[in-house]
Amino acid sequence: MALRLRARLPLPIAHLPPFAYPHCESKKPAAKDLCYEGGPPHRITAPELDTLGLYTFGDKLAHPFTAHPKVDPTTGALLCFGYSVRTQPYLQYSVIDAQGDIVSTTPIDLPRPIMMHDFAITPRYTLFMDLPMVFTMNEGPRLQFASALGARVGILPRHGTGDEIKWFEVSPCWVFHTLNAYEDGDEVVLLACRFTQYPAVLGFQPRTPTHPTDGKMSAATDAPFLSRWRFNLKTGQATEGPLDDIPTEFPRINEALTGKQTRFGYCGRSGGEMFDGLIKYDLDKGTSEHHPHGKGRMGGEGVFVPRPDSTGEDDGWLVTYVHDAASSKSELVVVETRDFRASPVARVLLPGRVPYGLHGTWITSAELARQQR
Ligand SMILES: [Fe+2]
Repeated sequence: MALRLRARLPLPIAHLPPFAYPHCESKKPAAKDLCYEGGPPHRITAPELDTLGLYTFGDKLAHPFTAHPKVDPTTGALLCFGYSVRTQPYLQYSVIDAQGDIVSTTPIDLPRPIMMHDFAITPRYTLFMDLPMVFTMNEGPRLQFASALGARVGILPRHGTGDEIKWFEVSPCWVFHTLNAYEDGDEVVLLACRFTQYPAVLGFQPRTPTHPTDGKMSAATDAPFLSRWRFNLKTGQATEGPLDDIPTEFPRINEALTGKQTRFGYCGRSGGEMFDGLIKYDLDKGTSEHHPHGKGRMGGEGVFVPRPDSTGEDDGWLVTYVHDAASSKSELVVVETRDFRASPVARVLLPGRVPYGLHGTWITSAELARQQR
């Protein structure tokens, strides 16, 4: 099996807010001012991972570009958004067709500039999380979690205008990553890893004596739990609640089903510095299986790779990086998702340390062959 992972965003860097980079709101920042989700995307080659430069869709990209765009697996459309720190519109949303052309850019009205790291799509709707992680030009921290401002989720028809968005009030929280969303009758369902507040361990807000300072997570304030929100488009009602009491993050699915109801979801199991294992959720049964990395071993995001000619949603593997503290070596670990508790089916010993917090993307040989140089 050929494994090709494209490094996308090391977590600590991806979560740097763009206010730290004063040129981020320029449509064409100089190379020295590149700033991840605060700027345009980069064009890179695979498998070499050579950076060719910024990619602005023929100068049509009018906003920064999220680190988590979504591909509609049915149409091939790429959906993305970007947020502005200082000027309206604070949120813009673009639809890019399967040929790579931006077909629409929609401003969405927000009352204040906020950090928004991820979103979700269904075949007909796009979901935005207006959570109270607020950029401020006031004295003190320039990025603050302000739960008193409330939180809401907006649901916009995929090709709708900004005034067509329906907002649903939810309990104040912070979300880095969504697992998925899907339509269920009159309802739109969102699954994501929910923090009760922005985790203090990642900084950007004042630490108090109750916040940890040793780089470890505080279960009381920093732990994320896989959660579900249901939004009824007819009644305007929203319900929400956790699906697990074990902290998890970096949720992934079989991306052939992005926007559709999936039975299975995969997360890193929070523990210590990073993830001490992987979790496979059976969302239909409400059960989970755990794959621990072993004593002294911490891993990152588990990327689902479907088996060629797979026979079902969970027929494939999770691939992730694991660091062994005792040997100080990193490995690429491959776990068979239908035999989740078993030992990895492959461990690729790596010549160097791979930092924690790496997102990944699986690229098939066919996709490699189709890439435009
Ligand atoms: Fe991310």
